[in-house]
Amino acid sequence: MVEISVSVLNVKNENAIKTFYNIEEAETNYFHIDVMDGRFVKQENLKQMKEYATTIKHISNLPLDVHFMVENIKDIIDDYIELQPNIMTFHIEASKENTTNIISYVKEQGIKVGLAISPKTQIKEIEEYLPYIHLVLVMTVEPGLGGQKLLPETIKKIEEINYYREKNNIDFEIEVDGGINAETASLVKNAGADILVAGSAILQSKDYKQMIADLKK
Ligand code: DX5
Ligand code: ZN
Repeated sequence: MVEISVSVLNVKNENAIKTFYNIEEAETNYFHIDVMDGRFVKQENLKQMKEYATTIKHISNLPLDVHFMVENIKDIIDDYIELQPNIMTFHIEASKENTTNIISYVKEQGIKVGLAISPKTQIKEIEEYLPYIHLVLVMTVEPGLGGQKLLPETIKKIEEINYYREKNNIDFEIEVDGGINAETASLVKNAGADILVAGSAILQSKDYKQMIADLKK
């Protein structure tokens, strides 16, 4: 069965704590924290996401799954180490020649490390790092905003990375992020995804628990 990581990107400040409790009650597997710097992506939410992650850490034992959509990865990692997330994922488009260093740095903190690829980035860009990481995050929308539609051409990439994993017998998880709902969930699961990130599909549903159960099925 797949796992669900609920994105808190669009949770409103006023009822954040109640919403976090409700998400936990609904049996999510992770809280997905979308950190944006206003440079790698247009939006900036550095202060808000740090507050949300800190609050969640106080009220819940569930793991934090942090997705950094930022240019300056090292600095932001330092900012999050104290929260001991279960996993920290950064974008290959931002890390470039520092990728190996950043992977080692995260692992030295005792934290699992993931590499994210935007829709236009091909699998071959990350191949050399695959034996050393815990997770590949395949973006199924352009990073930066919740509530977008899944780009159908990204499904092939999930299949491709899943095939590569089997063929080479490497052990990493495949997470997919963007536009996941009851319909698209089955497509990405069939393609080989292990963890589904979902924001709007959960937060806009009347019954979080039912929706999470549907996505997991
Ligand atoms: C987009 C973020 C996603 C987003 C998912 O840049 O990385 O995690 O919040 O939201 P939905 O499920 O609404 O596409
Ligand atoms: Zn995300």
